[in-house]
Amino acid sequence: MKNTVGSFKGIFPSIDKSVYIDASCRIVGDVKIEKDSSVWPLVAARGDVNKIRIGARSNIQDGSVLHVTRKSEKNPDGFPLIIGDDVTVGHKCMLHGCQLGNRILVGMGAIVMDGVVVEDDVFIGAGTLVPPNKRLESGFLYVGNPMQKKRPLNDAEMAFLKQSAVNYVVLKDEYLEEAN
Ligand SMILES: CC(C)(COP(=O)(O)OP(=O)(O)OC[C@H]1O[C@@H](n2cnc3c(N)ncnc32)[C@H](O)[C@@H]1OP(=O)(O)O)[C@@H](O)C(=O)NCCC(=O)NCCS
Repeated sequence: MKNTVGSFKGIFPSIDKSVYIDASCRIVGDVKIEKDSSVWPLVAARGDVNKIRIGARSNIQDGSVLHVTRKSEKNPDGFPLIIGDDVTVGHKCMLHGCQLGNRILVGMGAIVMDGVVVEDDVFIGAGTLVPPNKRLESGFLYVGNPMQKKRPLNDAEMAFLKQSAVNYVVLKDEYLEEAN
C-alpha cells in the first residue's frame, strides 16, 4: 500500500486491517475506514482540508471521488465527508463534503454536494445530482438532475440496501484471499 495510502501534514489514514483497498486507489490524510469496508479500483479519497470517515461494511466502487471543504470564518466546521455503515457508493460517484447515514445506495455517477445530509435507508438513483445542503428523507428513492423525491422504497428495495453491503463484504473477502 506504499503509493496507495499517503500522509498529509503528518496525518496518515487509519484503516482497519479487514478493509480491502485496490492498489490503484489514492487515499490521503485524515481518512478513517472501519471494519470490513472496501475501496475499489481508481478511487481518490483526499482528506487534506477536512476529514473523511467511512463506517463499517461500506463499499466505495470504482472511479469514485471523495473530497471535503475546508473550515472558514463563515463555516467553522467546513464540510467533512462522513459515510455511515452498510453504504454502497456505486461506480464513478462524486461525494463532496456531505453526510451519509447507514444503509444507503448511491447510484452510479451520482453527485452529492456540500452540506447534504442523507438519512438512513435512502436509495439515490444513478446519475442523480443532489444540490448543496439538501436533506434526503429516510425510506425514499431520489432521482434526477436536480434530484426529485420520487417515491417511498418498497420492502425489496429496503432489504437490498443491506444486502448490497453484505454482497460487497463477501466479495472483498474473496479479493483479500486472492491477494494472500
Ligand atoms: C432508479 C432505479 C432504482 C429504478 O427505479 P424504478 O422506479 O424501478 O424505475 P423504473 O425502471 O420502473 O423506471 C421508472 C421511471 O424512472 C426512470 N428512471 C429510472 N432510473 C432513473 C434514474 N436513475 N434517473 C432518472 N430517471 C430514472 C425510467 O426511465 C422511468 O421513466 P418513465 O416512467 O418515464 O419511463 C434504477 O434505475 C437506478 O438508478 N438504480 C441504481 C443502480 C446503481 O447505480 N447501483 C450501484 C452500482 S452497482
